[in-house]
Amino acid sequence: MAQYSQEFATGVAVITGAGSGIGEGIARCAAEAGMRVVVADIAIDRAESVAAAIRDGGGDARASEVDVAQPESLDALARFSYDIYGEVTLLVNNAGIETVGFSWELGAEAWERVLDINIHGAVHGVRAFAPKMIAAGKPAWIANTSSIGGFGITPLQTSYIMSKHAMIAYSECLFLEMEIKQAPVQVSVILPGPVKTRIFEDGQTESDATSAAHRDVMMGMLQANGISAYEAAQRILPQIAAGDFWVSTHPEMTAEFAGNRAAQLSVLAKPSLPQEVLANMGMADAL
Ligand SMILES: NC(=O)c1ccc[n+]([C@@H]2O[C@H](COP(=O)([O-])OP(=O)(O)OC[C@H]3O[C@@H](n4cnc5c(N)ncnc54)[C@H](O)[C@@H]3O)[C@@H](O)[C@H]2O)c1
Repeated sequence: MAQYSQEFATGVAVITGAGSGIGEGIARCAAEAGMRVVVADIAIDRAESVAAAIRDGGGDARASEVDVAQPESLDALARFSYDIYGEVTLLVNNAGIETVGFSWELGAEAWERVLDINIHGAVHGVRAFAPKMIAAGKPAWIANTSSIGGFGITPLQTSYIMSKHAMIAYSECLFLEMEIKQAPVQVSVILPGPVKTRIFEDGQTESDATSAAHRDVMMGMLQANGISAYEAAQRILPQIAAGDFWVSTHPEMTAEFAGNRAAQLSVLAKPSLPQEVLANMGMADAL
């Protein structure tokens, strides 16, 4: 019996970006625990097949099309979820995209898209759902997906990395706002390490050689070292259920990244990455 089976044995989960990867894993695990699940994604065909697979396995799930970059689309998702299933108890703002390229070479549209999805997607998810969760006055959970990269710095993934740093700061403030209100809503921030998903395949990459090489290295790294999305979800859900704020898939790696960040900031050191790390990330021409 899964550790989170008690907290998530009933209730309603809404997961964005649940048509693939980590979101799909969380949707499947939440349904297996006993939750009714709204599988929300911009790729409705993928969301439909995840929901159908959950139903085939005896679970209860519905797909819903959402573009988290559009605030009104998240309002519509909230209406859909409450109309279909009633009170939402778990919201996972998980949808996210990668974009690779030198900061000044990414087009305005690419910049807007990554910030709108990765940052505003969670902000407007909370805006659309939290008031109802607070008004219900019952235990509920909101988890925002950042990344282990939210403690790191990775040139060429600048737009992505800055969005993940933002997601940590946003989640910390949201946690305290819930405390100020004495709301029974637990806030968590999810910091996945490497998980084998399609994120680099789908993301936009600038065509210069350094960006292309970096993307290839990252794609290969996820395929070679990444855990499955289902396993990631099995690690993630018990921590959310337990009310942990920091939720890891790879705790040792999280501690290492956090420690490095703290060490750098404690002496206000200039940003730096060892040459071999840059080379290993496909940035050999930076040497
Ligand atoms: N895979 C990893 O190693 C890793 C590591 C750290 C953090 N993350 C984070 O985990 C989350 C999930 O990523 P993943 O790796 O499972 O990727 P994925 O590409 O497999 O899944 C992301 C899903 O989000 C959906 N999506 C994209 N734009 C959307 C939009 N505008 N509205 C609604 N849905 C949208 C996609 O259609 C896709 O189904 C992301 O926030 C990502 O940044 C992933």
